[in-house]
Amino acid sequence: MNTANAKSLLTIADIAARTGLEESLLRFYESEYPEQLPVKVLRGEALLFPAEAVTAFQAIHLRRTESQPPPSPRYGRVIAVTSGKGGVGKTNLALNLAIAIQRLGKMCVVVDGDLGMANIHLLAGLDPRPGMMEMLAADATPAQLIADGPEGIGIITGGSGIIAMADSDHASRQKMIKALGEVERLADVMIVDTGAGMGREVRDFLKAADEVIFVLTPDITSLADAYGLLKGLDQENDHDQRPIYSVVNMADTLQQAANVALRFSDCANRFLSREVKNIGYILKDATVGAATARRTPYSVFRPQARVSKHTHNLAVALLQDEMSELRISSAFGRYKKMLQKGDQS
Ligand SMILES: Nc1ncnc2c1ncn2[C@@H]1O[C@H](COP(=O)(O)OP(=O)(O)O)[C@@H](O)[C@H]1O
Ligand SMILES: [Mg+2]
Repeated sequence: MNTANAKSLLTIADIAARTGLEESLLRFYESEYPEQLPVKVLRGEALLFPAEAVTAFQAIHLRRTESQPPPSPRYGRVIAVTSGKGGVGKTNLALNLAIAIQRLGKMCVVVDGDLGMANIHLLAGLDPRPGMMEMLAADATPAQLIADGPEGIGIITGGSGIIAMADSDHASRQKMIKALGEVERLADVMIVDTGAGMGREVRDFLKAADEVIFVLTPDITSLADAYGLLKGLDQENDHDQRPIYSVVNMADTLQQAANVALRFSDCANRFLSREVKNIGYILKDATVGAATARRTPYSVFRPQARVSKHTHNLAVALLQDEMSELRISSAFGRYKKMLQKGDQS
């Protein structure tokens, strides 16, 4: 190449060096906006640009960055699974729902929020590992909290009851809420398995969540306890308009399940003016116990079983309910602000 050409003609690498823009980005601009660039010159094998291309590329880059706002952070949906009384199937549901959601193409993390009786890791067949409170006390990063679970889901383990409870002072709760807020940016959906009732830890999760699923059973006390919990939540937060869902578990028949769901939504509507949307049911099925004995989630153990299909249907219903706006607010971030405003409950 003679000196005259070397001065006036530039390779993509030259332009990258002069503009500070990546070569790949320049090639993209070149293919997208040929009309805004000076005509290229073919020299041997190489395509070269006249010197004016430098300012032309800079102008394209400026227009593009000005017209496109920086991407806003997106947060996953945080869905708490709760119940008024224990033993209704929350943990099984949370784990298998997470797997069903993951199978539908969403990144799902399930959080064992039952700090007193943590057991998701058992049902998922994970090796024993420290719970999130212990890991946070040892300065784990949010990403390190997530263990690999079945079918690609992430699992944040609850840990042993005694340590978790002893450790759940104000500072470590704050730390947990902050870390989970960051996990929200790593997942599309976070399913939080809570303990039953209205203990402090349960309340943290219920108040933080974007959406809450109440697990009911045909057992008469399940309905009364679930109603009590919803009422408690409602009283603590007047302006609470988050979606509330019900799932009926361990029903003998579809009709029985529909009845239970109807009674719950009726009470919520009549006495609390709250809409509760039923998203489905899971019948009683020996597959659940058989899977537990093998430390395998039932939807992995028998994907074709009725319970697994019902759980898949729940996942579909939940994803259909996705609010279409960008998820630009963090559930745990909101909750952290609530706590900072003096609501220490
Ligand atoms: N659909 C179901 N059919 C039969 N047994 C179930 C079903 N769902 C849960 N169970 C059983 O109920 C018990 C409680 O389930 P679990 O998920 O631990 O509930 P929770 O977390 O609400 O305490 C377990 O023994 C589980 O095997
Ligand atoms: Mg449980």
